Amino acid sequence: MRLKIIGSAAGGGFPQWNCNYQLSRRAWNGDENVRSRTQSSLAASSNGTDWVLFNASPDIRQQIAATPELQPQENGRLRSTPIRAVVLTNADVDHIAGLLSLREREPFVIYATRRVLDVLEANSIFNVLDRALVDRRELTAGGRTDILDVAKIPTGISVEAFAVPGKVALFLEDHSKAGEGFGTQEGDTIGLCISSRGSERAAFYVPGCARIDAVLTSRLQRADCLLFDGTLYTDDEMVAAGVGAKTGARMGHVSISGENGSLAALAELGIGNRIYVHINNTNPVLDAASAEHAAVVAAGWEIAFDGMEVRL
Ligand code: MLT
Ligand code: MN
Repeated sequence: MRLKIIGSAAGGGFPQWNCNYQLSRRAWNGDENVRSRTQSSLAASSNGTDWVLFNASPDIRQQIAATPELQPQENGRLRSTPIRAVVLTNADVDHIAGLLSLREREPFVIYATRRVLDVLEANSIFNVLDRALVDRRELTAGGRTDILDVAKIPTGISVEAFAVPGKVALFLEDHSKAGEGFGTQEGDTIGLCISSRGSERAAFYVPGCARIDAVLTSRLQRADCLLFDGTLYTDDEMVAAGVGAKTGARMGHVSISGENGSLAALAELGIGNRIYVHINNTNPVLDAASAEHAAVVAAGWEIAFDGMEVRL
């Protein structure tokens, strides 16, 4: 199986369009220690020909332009794509807005939980994806789902969805339920175990995770590769940077460092590759010369960059 991280930044991307914080500033200035990154998305293929996207970011057009495997093939039909399906892990803007760029009457399939399908259903702008061509299929937690194309032909990629602690998408927050996770329900955020036909190897993709509990750690034990929420290095880093008032806890993202952070919580697991994805533009690990970047690498993690490929 090939996994390509086509977008490694969190919502907003890096540098973010309106951001002058030192990291974005250095990226705008072309500092080679801080690479630009597009918004959160992953592509997987079992046979190198048929591809499944995991999340559709607002940068999808740029990501396709940077990834020849996702472009219409030279000997392909007049209008065609190697993208057979898009699997969604939540309804955040950075994970669904790219669907709107996949219009133009091309058949493919969207897989998501009932909660996330309901968000697409409730927003009629997603009807630009003609329901006669673009199938919406429900993904349920527990058990393996073979990802099939529109004609029900297997892509060779399978997933196992599982609920992870998270938060309902920002634009869906119910402020009358601030004390109860702003109306967050099961199915708002999932993680995925991704595998390929004929192989026992498993990649876990968890781009959004609010807390690491015992259920999640025991699930991740068997990961050959883990792509995990690397939004923030410290919980209050956006506040400290002066760019916003929200902590990671408020946004539904566990931080990398700290007592309850992912570095500590996942340290004892025998995971093969560990890679941080969905990295926010305030995270110091974006600076390849920073102490934080060095600490994460010393702990056995890699920091995703756009175009990073893992073969399992
Ligand atoms: C998140 O991951 O917290 C969201 O993508 C934030 C957003 O919608 O901008
Ligand atoms: Mn996000």
